[in-house]
Amino acid sequence: MSSKDQRMANAFDPATAASLPAREQALIQRRLQLLGQAYRLFYEQPLHVVRGEGVWLYDPDGNAYLDVYNNVASVGHSHPRVVEAIARQAATLNTHTRYLNDSILDYAERLLATLPAASSQAMFTCTGSEANDLALRLAANYSGGAGVIVTSHAYHGVTSSVAACSPAFGHKVPLGVHVRTVPAPDAYRYPDEDVGARFTRHVEQAIADLQRHGIQPAALLVDTLFTSDGVFAEPAGFLAGAVDAIRAAGGLFIADEVQAGFARSGSHFWGFQRHGVIPDIVTMGKPMGNGHPIAGLAARPEIIEAFGRRVRYFNTFGGNPVSCAAGLAVLDIIRDEGLQQNAHDTGAYLKAGLERLAARHELIGDVRGAGFFLGVELVSDRQRKTAATAETGRIVNALRQRRILISATGSAGNILKLRPQLPFSRANADQLLATLDEVLAGLQPPSSASTSSSSTCGK
Ligand SMILES: Cc1ncc(COP(=O)(O)O)c(C=O)c1O
Repeated sequence: MSSKDQRMANAFDPATAASLPAREQALIQRRLQLLGQAYRLFYEQPLHVVRGEGVWLYDPDGNAYLDVYNNVASVGHSHPRVVEAIARQAATLNTHTRYLNDSILDYAERLLATLPAASSQAMFTCTGSEANDLALRLAANYSGGAGVIVTSHAYHGVTSSVAACSPAFGHKVPLGVHVRTVPAPDAYRYPDEDVGARFTRHVEQAIADLQRHGIQPAALLVDTLFTSDGVFAEPAGFLAGAVDAIRAAGGLFIADEVQAGFARSGSHFWGFQRHGVIPDIVTMGKPMGNGHPIAGLAARPEIIEAFGRRVRYFNTFGGNPVSCAAGLAVLDIIRDEGLQQNAHDTGAYLKAGLERLAARHELIGDVRGAGFFLGVELVSDRQRKTAATAETGRIVNALRQRRILISATGSAGNILKLRPQLPFSRANADQLLATLDEVLAGLQPPSSASTSSSSTCGK
């Protein structure tokens, strides 16, 4: 299998396994034997980890890796308060939602308090994919439509209905006939156009195309930081016109907060809040249980009521007391440790550091993002904005060799994706910046590095 076939930035190519240490080769072989072909590992030299603590992951030899990529264990690997909450609840009771119990209600109350008043009911699942799958069912039921609009390199999950709305899988996973894609709101490649007006126009065109094919729109579904499209956060507010357009066509706006939610964007708890819009349905997952599999959605009650009149919902593990205890601990930690403020402040510090690197390294075409979700677009020609895909892969792997973990995103895989855990400190940011500087300097001939400051970094 060539890395091109794998259709994932930063995927390990099993054909190169022979060059790895014997212990890792044996593990890879065992995975292949037991799990088959469909899984992908990160990095040219896959990382073998045995322990995590705070922002650090450890390999079997005790080496520490700075994790700048893990928004799942978002409040820190093995956070003691989450561990304790899970252990305490597991020792008391774990069951499902067909019995009366306070846990799910206590959690739903706290979770819904972080959302706009309109999103006053919650439903729980185990994964973000299931949350989006359920959201699409709610939207189809409420709107009477079937059409779904997503961005052109969106990823929304793995169930068949959600994979059919996830163009990031590439053309070997067909999109549904009811799905239309629109270009992501890219302020870097189209700096002269109003981002919001352009995005709205594309959504309106997609709506018209659905209607022309006799398909009534059910939903506009977007990751509110457009993370698999390449991280598009600015200018805040650009979603408003598209949300109006889908509603005018009878569809719902589903904010996929699996990546952006739970304080990651720094200025707000939820990514959609940066755009001043109120979604009809909010889906969430990854950081919700700090690694424990809890996910779900929040919606306007009439949407859930219309569904509940026709359909009975039971998800064996969704909303179980142990998951809810983990979820509650995560909310407490974000509040008690001031983690949203840290994402805001340290995120801005990291972004400013990356912008300083962009002034010295020609390869950096753009630095963007919000809070602790940053994208660094690498281009081999700043005027033409030519994707520097190969260099991006070299940087991601060079950092991994220096024990710093990041990855890449975007349809060309040329955008460094930085997604540190919420307690990431300035000292952690300094370590990342210094190492990235060194790696970038090693990639470029000195003559090209000095001519860059006048050119087109940023919008
Ligand atoms: C934006 C977005 N939505 C949904 C999902 C699916 O979540 P899960 O892997 O928990 O099913 C992902 C996973 O990466 C995601 O990034």
